[in-house]
Amino acid sequence: MNATFSYFPLFLLALLACQPNATQNVQQLESSPAVKSADYYTEAHRPQFHFSPEANWMNDPNGMVYYDGEYHLFYQYYPDGDVWGPMHWGHAVSPDMVNWEHLPIALYPDKYGYIFSGSAVVDKQNTTGFKTGEHDPLVAIFTYHDTTGQRAGKNDFQTQGIAYSNDRGRTWTKYEGNPVIPNPGLRDFRDPKVSWHEESQQWVMIFARGDRVQIYNSPNLKDWTLASEFGEEQGTHGGVWECPDLFQLPIEGSNGQSKWVMLVSLNPGGANGGSGTMYFVGEFDGKTFINDNSAETVLWLDYGRDNYAGVSWSDIPKEDGRRLFMGWMSNWQYATRVPTSPWRSAMTIPRVLSLSSTDQGLRVKTSPVKELNTLRGISTDLAERMIAGSMDLSDEFEFDISTSEMNLEWDLSGSTATEVGIELTNAKGQSVAIGYDKARNEFYFDRANAGKVDFSDKFAGKFPAPNPSNASSIQMKMYIDVASVELFAQDGAVVMTDIFFPDEPFEQINFFANDGEAKLVSGQVWQLKRAW
Ligand code: FRU
Repeated sequence: MNATFSYFPLFLLALLACQPNATQNVQQLESSPAVKSADYYTEAHRPQFHFSPEANWMNDPNGMVYYDGEYHLFYQYYPDGDVWGPMHWGHAVSPDMVNWEHLPIALYPDKYGYIFSGSAVVDKQNTTGFKTGEHDPLVAIFTYHDTTGQRAGKNDFQTQGIAYSNDRGRTWTKYEGNPVIPNPGLRDFRDPKVSWHEESQQWVMIFARGDRVQIYNSPNLKDWTLASEFGEEQGTHGGVWECPDLFQLPIEGSNGQSKWVMLVSLNPGGANGGSGTMYFVGEFDGKTFINDNSAETVLWLDYGRDNYAGVSWSDIPKEDGRRLFMGWMSNWQYATRVPTSPWRSAMTIPRVLSLSSTDQGLRVKTSPVKELNTLRGISTDLAERMIAGSMDLSDEFEFDISTSEMNLEWDLSGSTATEVGIELTNAKGQSVAIGYDKARNEFYFDRANAGKVDFSDKFAGKFPAPNPSNASSIQMKMYIDVASVELFAQDGAVVMTDIFFPDEPFEQINFFANDGEAKLVSGQVWQLKRAW
């Protein structure tokens, strides 16, 4: 398909219209205060165990890299307003991806443009020659977005640049040879994700170009050669492709076999509308990716409305071996209008991606990282029972759910009910429901009546996710924060990430089985401590 995509400039123009007077809630908070006040991170709808910036606008996670005991998270950040604007790279570090320390802004716009999304790597072999001291250089690879060129009606306003740090990411220097990949005249030419390809001993960069991706090679992160292009007539093309990633995953339970997985974010055209992330499974030789599935196969990483632009962490030590992922927990359809202040947007919880054989073929499974267990506090076992109609089980919990975040795991079997699930409610009668619809054999998330929904006509609704299994058992694992639910059903084969904004915190949790009954085989709920 040869359509020329220009969705991004459309949203960009709309958002630029909001500037430069986007001064609502402007705060110049660039790093954590030494002493946090008692009300730190307690505003309405403020996530308690998800990453969010102290103030102002955030979108995609960028430059996620592990070095010297620290997980780095950079992110698309506009420090002067709470809607999208001139992009910087905000920065935070964490020993465990759960507890974060805010650091000063890492990258500021310069004469080549705003700093759009990209990645970071540890240059262990000093292929760049940037190393000056005892530490390996960290190298950030990002897109420059030149608004002057864009306004002048040019097509070549996005280029790729690099910057480096020799002090564990604390200070950054832009490379004097930028841009390292000039633009050949293509709109939507962005979001480089770089990794070291062991077999061919070279750097590989994948980035989005319109409705497909390009793959480049380099010996030194400075000189790049186009190796291949992938995506024409592959997967789905409802919008522009963004923020790709490409990595190898072992096939669970196999004898050392592995495959390559390509993540591609797509906006619009996601599984349930707006922004979404799909993936491909195949082979990669350092230059060319070959899709194992038919070109029209579309595999979704997450069926929720709020997991976009996610990519994986670079340089996770071999002894750990996990492929760690985090996404932006919002959707371009309404991200700039969600009712939060003084910040806008949070990231998903950190997750592990794995690859397993299923009846349908190789599929990516997602699970929350084990580090989240450190937040677990009081727990309650839910005894086996039949659920029929709607039953308030929060009375059994040994903690008050209106002041808690929760991790809930349950197994159901032999359900005769049309729908089973849980509903979170408050005194105002507002609710969200996370359930399973037997006739359709699909999970769903319902936020039609979730409180504040009218900031966008695209927000409210009930959204499905197909259950790939025909087994009668239903397993649901959920992470419930103040303003989001992340569902990992059927052992992580089905994922839904959705945000919501009730006028008062949810205070009750009902388990329901409509028009029938279901056996709760086992269940456990944990109060989660706040991470801020
Ligand atoms: C994805 C995206 C990227 C771009 C960035 C700009 O959400 O549109 O393609 O680099 O956001 O902030």
